[in-house]
Amino acid sequence: MTLAEAKQKLAQYGQEHVLKYYGELDPAGQEALLSQIAETDMSILASCKHREELAQRGEITPLAAMELDEIRDNQKSFTSTGIGAIHDGKVGAVLLAGGMGTRLGSDNPKCMYNVGINRELYIFECLVNNMMDVVRQSGSWFHLFVMTSEKNNDTTIQFMQEKKFFGYNPEFVHFFKQEMAAATDYEGRIYLEEKGRLATSPNGNGGWFISMKNAGLLELVKKEGIEWLNVFAVDNVLQRIADPCFVGATIQRNCDVGAKVVRKNAPDEKVGVICLEDGRPSIVEYYDLTQELMDAKDEKGNPAYNFGVILNYLFRVSALEQLLDGNLPLHIVEKKIPCLDENGELVKPQEPNGYKYENLVLDMIHQMDSCLPYEVERNREFAPIKNKTGIDSVESARALLQENGVEL
Ligand code: UTP
Repeated sequence: MTLAEAKQKLAQYGQEHVLKYYGELDPAGQEALLSQIAETDMSILASCKHREELAQRGEITPLAAMELDEIRDNQKSFTSTGIGAIHDGKVGAVLLAGGMGTRLGSDNPKCMYNVGINRELYIFECLVNNMMDVVRQSGSWFHLFVMTSEKNNDTTIQFMQEKKFFGYNPEFVHFFKQEMAAATDYEGRIYLEEKGRLATSPNGNGGWFISMKNAGLLELVKKEGIEWLNVFAVDNVLQRIADPCFVGATIQRNCDVGAKVVRKNAPDEKVGVICLEDGRPSIVEYYDLTQELMDAKDEKGNPAYNFGVILNYLFRVSALEQLLDGNLPLHIVEKKIPCLDENGELVKPQEPNGYKYENLVLDMIHQMDSCLPYEVERNREFAPIKNKTGIDSVESARALLQENGVEL
């Protein structure tokens, strides 16, 4: 893109200020900035002026979960179906590790966080240990696709190589990068993170399948005959991955997606709740859950919206492929965005100072025809690490790991 073309594009979206330091850059820096301007989707940024309208929802009604007793009654049969599918290579796993982990506040990618006390035990190691249980049970390796972002890709790969993949078979591990999106102030004006670089942030975890495809990995999925992809978050150190019983239940119930859920510990717990929206599976985020929905009861008198998602989903690949062109809703999220101040000095704000623009994996559930919410025991499978202390923290996850017999 030439400077004139860049000026024209920027003028169209009111972003001319990003060229403020253009004259100070060397030719390589100028070229890099122009190509970043060319690649950046600026059409989405104006949406920050009507954030509320984006959040409009359809009619919410309950969606019953498969609860623990039903799972226990069918455990043998589900597990045998799941083991069969894993053994036949039909199941792959996708680790979403492109996030910035700003709440945890560590400089390294979250997967490198050491949760050990008397020994080293990294988040990634916990996940691999859990996967190894299934490798032993099924007698087969399964493919692990790891989504990183441009901000943490090299460090993540180097770490895994140094740690020899914690014993996982490297031939079954594949990394791919997600896309980035510009980050702006509250008026939708793009911040600069360097004089020759727009501030960017990973574009949310909802683009994982498209990014996998763009990286050429869908071909591998096809070649290997993978029919199911178990997508999971990096920060839940207890979760079971490619859990045979969960895989088998989703296959036997013939659903396009299975969603692991936990019984909420309070009506206002900060987890997204599984439901139907206009008759299709969906998830209502905790901040959209009205008092009326919190108080609603099902026919047994239990809370009707009582199951929260833990970001562990099993998607049918053929259903995902139909979505490739479908647009996911945009989420505009307040964040702390490092940026240049008026004097061109880099500042790392202590409080949110603008927006990042994201697509979320939870919105993919609404695009599936059928969903099996599958209950797991929260003390056994839900130990997310979002913060250093308090709720969903390193502290709470350590306590849960110990409760489950993991030495720290
Ligand atoms: P979170 O919503 O917890 O976001 O991500 P985060 O960026 O890790 O943490 P904060 O909000 O800045 O503290 C849930 C999961 O989705 C992944 C994360 O790595 C985590 O596994 N994720 C999130 C991505 O892969 N890409 C993204 O753009 C955002």
